[in-house]
Amino acid sequence: MPFPTEFAWGAATSSYQIEGAAHEDGKGPSIWDTFSHTPGKVANGDTGDVACDHYYRWADDLDLIGSHGLNAYRFSVSWPRIQPDGRGPVNQKGLDFYQRLCDGLLERGIRPAATLYHWDLPQALQDDGAGWQNRDTAERFAEYAAILYDGLGDRVAWWVTHNEPWVAAALGHRLGIHAPGIRDLAAELRTSHHLLLSHGLAVEAYRSTGLAAPIGITLNLMPTYPQHDTHEDRRAAILSDGYTNRWYLDPLFRGTYPADMLEYFAARLRLDWIRPGDVEQMARPTDFLGVNFYSRRVVRASAAGEAAEFAWVVRSEGTTGIPTSDLGWEMTPETLLELLVRLKADYGSPAILITENGCALNDTVGGDGKVHDPRRIEYLRTHLAALEESIARGVDVRGYFAWSLLDNFEWAEGYGPRFGITYVDYATQGRIPKDSARWYADVVRRNGLP
Ligand code: FCB
Repeated sequence: MPFPTEFAWGAATSSYQIEGAAHEDGKGPSIWDTFSHTPGKVANGDTGDVACDHYYRWADDLDLIGSHGLNAYRFSVSWPRIQPDGRGPVNQKGLDFYQRLCDGLLERGIRPAATLYHWDLPQALQDDGAGWQNRDTAERFAEYAAILYDGLGDRVAWWVTHNEPWVAAALGHRLGIHAPGIRDLAAELRTSHHLLLSHGLAVEAYRSTGLAAPIGITLNLMPTYPQHDTHEDRRAAILSDGYTNRWYLDPLFRGTYPADMLEYFAARLRLDWIRPGDVEQMARPTDFLGVNFYSRRVVRASAAGEAAEFAWVVRSEGTTGIPTSDLGWEMTPETLLELLVRLKADYGSPAILITENGCALNDTVGGDGKVHDPRRIEYLRTHLAALEESIARGVDVRGYFAWSLLDNFEWAEGYGPRFGITYVDYATQGRIPKDSARWYADVVRRNGLP
């Protein structure tokens, strides 16, 4: 079963996770600079100050992408490199970096996919007005987006407005384990609303440029299943799915928040920051949906007094006998297939880009100087097979980006988990393509699985 011709075969990264150069060439601090430097927030006290030093090694890294045979590359732009305070005139040196990067990609026959926001909000916007909890940040985002359309619009092949708004909202504003480290359900929901609103404003601004490259948003979608086949657990799964998946999909593709979740949240909090016309703005037509897929989620009904905010509890991972990554995430490729078939049925057959998929392993360099990662190959193989099957069932999948090109700064987990198809020796900044990179290059060459 071949993949479509013109299929995008790529790998993905994000600015804070690989660039380093945290204070170079006029870049302002981001909320991740602040958060990672706050003691106790990131494993091992790791920060993105140097990361993969990609800001300086970008040309070698582009050669690496070329050597893997990829025809696409997804990166994100660091907003505080472009606008150090999140507003006002462009910092030309910051923009120059991304222009060089795109030119280098195009010279190598690699199509650039640019993500506008992968979580590194300018710290000044957090200080001035509570960041994404402030509606004004959505307006600032649209202005920032317009700078990039102008500066990179002749080079970029796909635009992704946001990466995983659920993670930015929930982990950053309710669980407090990502920047800016807030713990408040109301803050999470306000944030989710303003992220989606800013997406709509950025799409509106894009359409007025006349640029033709496709634009969309990337969601992390977690197919959710009841732990037990009981009425209570099935209801828990429906609500949990509503909270992580439908809360984002429905406004984007149906122009309305899901009624059950509105009712659920309205019983607990005031939702007075939803203004007339907002959801229509979020629902502006886009050209594709970016899907980041890692694993499924299994939930059960919470017992009385167990969870203050939610009626569901996520089952702890790694207790099922299903193979897991070294972060304990279950490998369930069949749930990717189910997800894609559902998106086609429920949301009007959107074109799909898989903008991230991969697994973390405790990779080490062998005595032969190589990195053997057969479990990653198995993960990629089974997920690509699920993708093939979804295409056979009529899902309009246009591309696939492995997470990640490089081992990198894995947020609160620091440099421990290794998601790369390329091994990074952080002491020397050496790069070693893993076995999975060679395997993936073969898939790309064939435009299909061996
Ligand atoms: C996703 C993020 C990405 C990376 C992977 C493992 O949630 O978008 O930056 O951390 O998970």
